[in-house]
Amino acid sequence: MTHLNLKKRIFDFNLIFDRSGVLFIEDTKTLLVSDLHLGKSISMNKNGNLIPPYDNMETIINLKKMISYYKPNQVISLGDTFHENSSVQTMEKNFLNEIKCMTKKIKFVWIIGNHDNSLINSKKLGGNFLENLSQDNLFFTHIKTKNLNKKYFEFSGHYHPKTFLKINNSRYYYKCFVIGQNFCILPSFGYYTGGTDVKLSIFKEIKNQNIQLIILGKRKIIQQKYTL
Ligand SMILES: [Fe+2]
Repeated sequence: MTHLNLKKRIFDFNLIFDRSGVLFIEDTKTLLVSDLHLGKSISMNKNGNLIPPYDNMETIINLKKMISYYKPNQVISLGDTFHENSSVQTMEKNFLNEIKCMTKKIKFVWIIGNHDNSLINSKKLGGNFLENLSQDNLFFTHIKTKNLNKKYFEFSGHYHPKTFLKINNSRYYYKCFVIGQNFCILPSFGYYTGGTDVKLSIFKEIKNQNIQLIILGKRKIIQQKYTL
């Protein structure tokens, strides 16, 4: 994973959109990440879908890389950090220790998502678990708020947005950020997390408006206007 990124000034904040799917708020040194879905392969294997169980390792390594690159004062994980409520319980001890190490060094806020709203053993992790958080005029939550107070700019996750780029007449899908007038939806960061095409009706329900996509291509980050 390289540190290909794109800087934009939005709502009077300098935001850095990283190719990995994290977002860094320069002004407050806050690193945002969403939908890690740690424990997804363990959960799938338990349910008879036999897939290689290496996603926890990869996702944690990638997060550590982003932390050492951006050196944040705080990390906010925007929900669905864990794939299911038993994911801390079933997590390999070494990965649990890696997370504990991170939360000892840096302030961590775990926003509660729909996958991890009754997380067992959450206290083992360190950090603070919150439904949502407002800092200055920034609001952090898992699922985009329908009628947000106009004084806030909101960051959320949940939808795992992706879109396609046409290359040589073929469609290649990439994860993307979705930016509206007062919101930004982050892509999923987890190694085994897929995406939801922004053209699907679920995004139309969010709001009928012009948005901007920041598409995380392999070698470059592309900005594109889009109407939901
Ligand atoms: Fe979610």
